[in-house]
Amino acid sequence: MSLEDVTREKWATRIGFILAAVGSAVGLGNIWRFPFQVGQEGGAAFLVIYLLFVGLIGIPAMLVEFVVGRRSERNPINAFDRLGHGEWRFVGALGVFTGFVILAFYSVVAGWVTRYTFASLTGAYFGEPSVYFNSIAEGPAAIGFHALFMVATAVIVAAGIQRGIELAVKVMVPALLALLVGLIGYAFTLEGAAEGYQYYLSPEIGVIASNWMSILPAAAGQAFFTLSLGMGVMITYASYLGEDRNLAVDGGWIAALNTLVSILAGLVVFPVLFTIGVEPGSGGAGELFVGVGGAIAQVPGSRLVGFVFFGVVVIAALSSAISILEVLVSYAIDNYGMERKKATAVISSVVFLVGIPTAIDLDVLNLYDQITASLLLPLGVFLTVVFVGWVYPDSAEEVAKGTSKGSDGTLPTAWLWYIRIPILLVVGLVLVISAIDLYG
Ligand code: PFF
Ligand code: NA
Repeated sequence: MSLEDVTREKWATRIGFILAAVGSAVGLGNIWRFPFQVGQEGGAAFLVIYLLFVGLIGIPAMLVEFVVGRRSERNPINAFDRLGHGEWRFVGALGVFTGFVILAFYSVVAGWVTRYTFASLTGAYFGEPSVYFNSIAEGPAAIGFHALFMVATAVIVAAGIQRGIELAVKVMVPALLALLVGLIGYAFTLEGAAEGYQYYLSPEIGVIASNWMSILPAAAGQAFFTLSLGMGVMITYASYLGEDRNLAVDGGWIAALNTLVSILAGLVVFPVLFTIGVEPGSGGAGELFVGVGGAIAQVPGSRLVGFVFFGVVVIAALSSAISILEVLVSYAIDNYGMERKKATAVISSVVFLVGIPTAIDLDVLNLYDQITASLLLPLGVFLTVVFVGWVYPDSAEEVAKGTSKGSDGTLPTAWLWYIRIPILLVVGLVLVISAIDLYG
């Protein structure tokens, strides 16, 4: 038995694992990215396709990552070696690379949110929301808050699995859900509520038929991004998981809670946008800040409302950022025998540097986001499903049984064929469309 087997950490509790995975899933993807994707891709029609992706492809893909992680008890790169297929290491490496790029720009956006949380207290953005956003989104200020957010992320990860991540998410996730419910109650009272719900919740099927070439990859990218798939996060988190947990049950809970938060966030954001007359999707990456920020400025108690709203988003972003950083740190620990604190310091510094271009130029940020969400994440998912479905089907059977101890069976055995063919066809199609779109 090697040193790493002796010292590998584990989640203290089952709920700790679920909360950590929910914390990873719920983040800027739900509250910042989701609403402007819905807006850009035609409203409720996009919502329908997105939900289909989450349920029919996202959840199985999550189970596939879980089983790779639990079986190997390794970071995503070494996982494939440990399962006897070292030639698949590149899939883990691709995931780690993708996570690295995502964390770099994610931290910049989270830095804006951190800034807005403080700026709410003084009302700094209340006068001219779009002027304020433009003044802080690029340049030294953005770099400073990006640094601050990376430090906060690193402090939690440096404290380890049980005392850092697990403890942090046990506080953050319940707080997040409670605050979000409060905000929905508040949004319900706004003037634009009815129009917002209408836009968000009544799909026009015609929009799907005419725009499927753009809706499909956007919905797939959003589904994978929001579930933290295609980048080794779920492999890594499941590598700290005991054998007796039922993967399918845990995965279902995680996806359901994450979807709930996305839907709830939409119930806050769309009434707000319609109340102040902002067209959803028009603001791109700045939409949350200009639209929601501008609306907050106009309500009674705006300083407190703004502080709570953006504070919720910071919490959500932090519990996601720690999951990506943990992937990178677990790799350094497993492979180079680095001490956790040192690995965390080194890696978070490099991520900080890689994020700087996105803190200087919004176009670079959009480019990082586009390439990762619509190309690299689906590619990571596709390859991992090929591995579990075709190369190592034994593990797919373990998922069907739920626990690795061979119990009752949670999924029908036909599930193997479901991941082998239909899922690969759909994700393959998404990849082709995305590639044509980006490079054609
Ligand atoms: N799922 C997170 C979100 O929706 O904000 C973002 C994210 C976290 C993406 C972790 C990828 C990841 F590995
Ligand atoms: Na999410």
